[in-house]
Amino acid sequence: STEATPDGYRPAYHYTPEKNWVNDPNGLVYLDGEYHLFYQYNPYGDTWGHMSWGHAVSKDLKTWEELPVALEEYPSADSSETMIFSGSVVVDSENTSGFFEPGFKNGMVAIYTSHVHRGDVGLAQHQSLAYSSDKGRTWKYYDQNPVLDLNMKDFRDPNVFRYQGKWKMIVVKPLDYVAQIYESENLKDWKLLSEFGKMGDMAKIWECPSLFEVPVADSDEKKWVMLISSAAEDTEFTGMQYFVGDFDGQRFTPQPQEGVFRLDNGKDFYAAIPYNNLPDSQKNPIIVGWVNNWMYANQIPASGSRGMFSLPRALSLKKQGDTYIVVQRPIFKEGISTKTISVKAKDLAGQTFDMPTNSYRLTLTIDLSDAQDFTIDLLKKDNQSTPLRYDAATGKLSLDRTNSGDVAFHEQFPSVESVSLNPKNKQLKLDIFADNSVLEIFVNDGEKVLTELVFPGNGTSRVAAKTD
Ligand code: FRU
Repeated sequence: STEATPDGYRPAYHYTPEKNWVNDPNGLVYLDGEYHLFYQYNPYGDTWGHMSWGHAVSKDLKTWEELPVALEEYPSADSSETMIFSGSVVVDSENTSGFFEPGFKNGMVAIYTSHVHRGDVGLAQHQSLAYSSDKGRTWKYYDQNPVLDLNMKDFRDPNVFRYQGKWKMIVVKPLDYVAQIYESENLKDWKLLSEFGKMGDMAKIWECPSLFEVPVADSDEKKWVMLISSAAEDTEFTGMQYFVGDFDGQRFTPQPQEGVFRLDNGKDFYAAIPYNNLPDSQKNPIIVGWVNNWMYANQIPASGSRGMFSLPRALSLKKQGDTYIVVQRPIFKEGISTKTISVKAKDLAGQTFDMPTNSYRLTLTIDLSDAQDFTIDLLKKDNQSTPLRYDAATGKLSLDRTNSGDVAFHEQFPSVESVSLNPKNKQLKLDIFADNSVLEIFVNDGEKVLTELVFPGNGTSRVAAKTD
């Protein structure tokens, strides 16, 4: 439901289930008019545990309907439990798996990580299958699970896609910073093709890999993008990085790259994966991420449900010099209170914008030719503020949530995040989505994005600008 909660934290246009804990989006797949969002879910509480797959569907990626739990943690013979960790869903329209009636086109197969406590070896992770003939409403577990097992404690998050008439899987060894690519004809027998890794960000862990083709804007060219959930800015915080390159069906070869390419410069965007099986008319891949950070995920102030999902984002690539960067465009509901403003930086002095609630969209086009520093407080109330600052000399745009409301629940939560823009830019475009406890800020048509949790609490804030 989108009912406001007494603490004012529940988002109005970002999906979160009615109650309990969520983390990663899982099994994003389109089938026959419905976009499915499965996700890591604890059916029994609002902190991590009993991992299962929750389920919601949408006709337009804008409003969501919550459905019953799809895959559930289960007790197994030689263990205390098997949890259903992250994974993907494919539509097996040719019945390559043999799970469906001959000729049936709408079979769904989930490929997920079984996280098991085994009496003999302790913890183990391996890849398993479940299938559904009723568009994800009910599922059966494959009776020969697991289908891929390296006898490892950490080996997870299979992401499967169809390419050149075969199934390909990308899956990670999180502690080794290695993504493996496998191939299968039937989703049951998997053959290792290649490995990729030991480069880019290796500060923490590698999780939730994906590999997919992305069109280059204004051209017929396409490149492959690999998303990896890892760390933020070489810290113990979680965050996402990406690689752009080529995939020949066997091996991924990245473009030469300097430094780490960050998908989002905020602290709260993780575990994003793309939709499978999108309609042909949808040329750009669409991803959804989890808005949270493992650093403090279990402690964020909760209003019944803890955790939410980002706006779906359509991706394209843009050539910048010799490299390609990922550009993200949000998909959102019409009818969000919106203000659209075009202004010279120096004319921002003293401007305030009243928004009817803390759930709004503010689109600003700011003329920077007068080299003016400015600050826009996105959620100003009482002694609280959440300033977005622009420093003309360095071209830095930073969001400061150190005084944004409830910040005391975790000592690492109060933080300042920034993105570097070209100081030669004569114009700054900001598309700001505020939704009670989240800010998603798309900079310069999605070339940079900042996703941040904030807990300003009840009572409508104002947007107030000043120049320094
Ligand atoms: C990423 C992750 C995955 C794992 C899941 C467990 O956030 O750690 O690697 O499958 O969460 O809930």
